[in-house]
Amino acid sequence: MKIEQGQVAVVTGAGSGIGQATAVLLASRGVVVALADINESGMAETARRIAKTGSHSSQHVVDVGNRKQMEAFARSVESAHQRVDIVINNAGIGILEDFVDNSLDEFQKVVDVNLWGVVYGAKLFLPLMRRQGSGHIVNISSLAGIISTPGMVSYGTTKYAVRGFSESLRIELAEYGIGVTSVHPGLIGTNILKVNRSADARLHERLIEWFDRWGRPPELVARKLVRGIERNRMRVLVTPETYVMDFAKRMVPATAERLSGFVLERIKLAGNPDYRADREKRRTAQRPDPAAANRQTGS
Ligand SMILES: NC(=O)c1ccc[n+]([C@@H]2O[C@H](COP(=O)([O-])OP(=O)(O)OC[C@H]3O[C@@H](n4cnc5c(N)ncnc54)[C@H](O)[C@@H]3O)[C@@H](O)[C@H]2O)c1
Repeated sequence: MKIEQGQVAVVTGAGSGIGQATAVLLASRGVVVALADINESGMAETARRIAKTGSHSSQHVVDVGNRKQMEAFARSVESAHQRVDIVINNAGIGILEDFVDNSLDEFQKVVDVNLWGVVYGAKLFLPLMRRQGSGHIVNISSLAGIISTPGMVSYGTTKYAVRGFSESLRIELAEYGIGVTSVHPGLIGTNILKVNRSADARLHERLIEWFDRWGRPPELVARKLVRGIERNRMRVLVTPETYVMDFAKRMVPATAERLSGFVLERIKLAGNPDYRADREKRRTAQRPDPAAANRQTGS
C-alpha cells in the first residue's frame, strides 16, 4: 500500500521502542497517528516527537489485552479520525522464566497482551478498513516466532501464534484489498526486558546490558516495517540473526532447534555462571518439604 499524507495509522505500544520509532517515522511521512499504550509518559514523548514532524497524533491509554478497553479505543479512534489505513499491533511483553517456574497467571498475561492484543487490534479496526476498501495490518512477531526460545516459552508461544494468525489472515483479507504483514525482529535495543522482573535477577541485569550494547536500533525495524507495508510483504525479517536462524530452520530444522537451545544456554551461563545452581536453589525452596507434609497429614 502506498503511504500518503493524511492517512491514519494506529500504533499500539507506541510509548517506547519499536512502536515509538514506527509512529514517528509514519508521522514524518505525513500520516496522522493514534497512539495506544499503558505508559502515558512514554506516549506523551512520542506525541512531542510527532509534533516536531509537523503531523499530529491522538493519545489513548489502553491495555491491549483488555477487550473492553480495545473496543472503546476503536470507537474513539473512529470518532477522532473517521478512518484507519494502517494498524500496527506492536505492544508486547516478555517474561524471562522457564515454563517449570512460570505461573499460569504470568503465562496468561503474556498471551493476553502479545496474542489477544494483536487479535483485538486486527478485528476491531477491520470494519473501518473494509468500509474504505483498503488498509494494511502489521503484527509484530519476533525471531521467537521462527525458532524456539527455551527460557521464554510463553513469549515464543505467542510469537509463533502471531505469525500463524498473520499468514492465515493475509490470505482471507486479500480480497478486501487489505494487506497483512508479520514482522520478525532479532535483538533490538529497547526497554522490553527492563519493564518485567525475572526470577534470576543477575542474569536479567546482564541481558539488559547486552540488549543496550548489542541491540540494533528500533528505527531499523520501523524502516523495514514501513517498506514491508509499501511492498505488501507477507513477512519482514530484521537483523542478521533472524536471517541466519530462518535459513537454518528451513534447511536443517532439528539441528537449528538444538543450536538455538545450545546458544541460549551459553548466553544464560555467560550472564550468570551460577545460573543452573541458582535455579535449582529457587526450585528447591518452592518445593514443599515432604517431612512437613507428612507431619500435617499425621502419616
Ligand atoms: N526488543 C526486541 O529485541 C524485540 C525483538 C523481537 C520482537 N520484539 C517485539 O517488538 C514489540 C515492541 O517491543 P519493544 O522491544 O519496542 O519493547 P518496549 O518495552 O520498548 O515497548 C513496548 C511498549 O508496549 C507497551 N505495552 C506493554 N504492555 C502493554 C499493554 N498491555 N497495553 C498497551 N501497551 C503495552 C509498553 O508500555 C511499551 O511502551 C513487542 O511485541 C516485542 O515482543 C522486540
